[in-house]
Amino acid sequence: MILDNIETCDNEQVKLKSTTQSRSLSQCFQKRKLIWIIIFIVVIILIIIIPIVIIKTKKSNVIQISATVEITTQETTETLNESTTEERILPKYKKWKQQGITVAGGNGDGDQLNQLGFPGTINIDENKTILILDKNNRRIVEWKYGSNSSQIILGVYDRLFYPTDIVVDKENNALIIYDTGSRRIIRWFRENQTIQEILAFNPNIYLAMDKNGSIYICDYYANEVRRWKDGDKTRGTIVAGGNGYGTDLNQFRSPRCIFVDDDYSVFVSDWGNDRVMKWKQGATEGIAVAGWNNNGGNLDQLSNPEGVLVDQLGHIYVADYNNHRVVRWCDGDIYGSVVVGGNGVGNGSNQLNSPARLSFDTEGNLYVVDQRNRRVQKFEISHD
Ligand SMILES: *[C@@H]1O[C@H](CO)[C@@H](O)[C@H](O)[C@H]1NC(C)=O
Ligand SMILES: *[C@@H]1O[C@H](CO)[C@@H](O)[C@H](O)[C@H]1NC(C)=O
Ligand SMILES: *[C@@H]1O[C@H](CO)[C@@H](O)[C@H](O)[C@H]1NC(C)=O
Ligand SMILES: *[C@@H]1O[C@H](CO)[C@@H](O)[C@H](O)[C@H]1NC(C)=O
Ligand SMILES: *[C@@H]1O[C@H](CO)[C@@H](O)[C@H](O)[C@H]1NC(C)=O
Ligand SMILES: *[C@@H]1O[C@H](CO)[C@@H](O)[C@H](O)[C@H]1NC(C)=O
Repeated sequence: MILDNIETCDNEQVKLKSTTQSRSLSQCFQKRKLIWIIIFIVVIILIIIIPIVIIKTKKSNVIQISATVEITTQETTETLNESTTEERILPKYKKWKQQGITVAGGNGDGDQLNQLGFPGTINIDENKTILILDKNNRRIVEWKYGSNSSQIILGVYDRLFYPTDIVVDKENNALIIYDTGSRRIIRWFRENQTIQEILAFNPNIYLAMDKNGSIYICDYYANEVRRWKDGDKTRGTIVAGGNGYGTDLNQFRSPRCIFVDDDYSVFVSDWGNDRVMKWKQGATEGIAVAGWNNNGGNLDQLSNPEGVLVDQLGHIYVADYNNHRVVRWCDGDIYGSVVVGGNGVGNGSNQLNSPARLSFDTEGNLYVVDQRNRRVQKFEISHD
């Protein structure tokens, strides 16, 4: 293009014969000057435009980088704030000493006061007194803190009495008991030692209570959980399951222990499905919050879960019966983690044999009903 222009100039020079040579020379010189100025300007423009284009294409990356920096900073701050608050109140993941202390039983199978037959549900009160349903001995016993033997709270009051689950009714200073012998749920008032009949039910049922005093009845054979409140004329309303025996999210296979949290969500150990289900209030199906990867011993599996407990942080603790361990699952976790046990079946202090029920005391120590060892193990909370 540049050469063309110069040629044109030369041609013009030839064409402009009539004009004076000096004039045509100066004109050509001016034209050349103009061309060089244009070239200069074009070069300058190119020099300016090229870097701008390069910067523009890279600009998105630059923005992304700065955004990442911002997010990272925010996350760090949040994490720091979180950990500071939680360290002050509660550590994010509580830990327990792995060596358990036998606080009840552990003296073989028998009906002496220092023995337990087949311990089931337990309750720890504010004085660390342990209330235990001693199923095979058909009695409810209490072990005072530090005591080496028990007191019978309710024994064989009649020939048929066979309690299989209990729940403490604090408000009425009573125990709600399912008596398999008479096939009734009863309320036993501690003060005057009298019994009030609540509901007739076929075995095998499991009980729980919410903060409002409603009783929850998990029916192993009906594959449903009902809620019943004093004054209800019926057998209560179904709050979980009720859709037959199966593996769907709205079904159970032989459900057992239940726990009701402060939001009235019902946690059910779905024994035959090797999972724990959470049914929010009013839900038409549950959410699998632990297990459900077939029966097994991996960390994403459970093997016939029994006791289930949810702490203030919303962490779910499961008595993983046939894996002889207690596992914890947090919201959305694919894998649980072993809290205590999991060291093979046995009677060592770090071992369990068929853990069935769980409880915490006010200090956060963990109590495990070590059913086939016929003892209750206390695992002290670790503060380091
Ligand atoms: C972190 O804590 C500080 C003071 O304790 C507060 O000013 C700040 O807003 C908190 N940041 C976040 C992300 O909560
Ligand atoms: C705990 O012990 C105190 C003092 O002995 C007593 O007043 C209180 O009633 C006990 N609590 C329970 C639940 O037994
Ligand atoms: C239980 O403890 C008492 C003292 O508190 C003691 O005298 C008794 O021998 C103990 N019993 C057993 C079986 O260890
Ligand atoms: C026993 O005590 C409970 C609660 O205090 C009361 O409702 C019930 O009527 C009493 N039973 C008898 C027979 O006194
Ligand atoms: C609590 O119980 C009362 C009856 O005593 C009932 O009217 C109320 O709906 C219950 N609340 C919940 C959240 O279950
Ligand atoms: C613990 O297990 C061992 C070996 O199986 C047995 O010899 C011992 O008697 C058991 N101890 C108790 C207290 O059951």
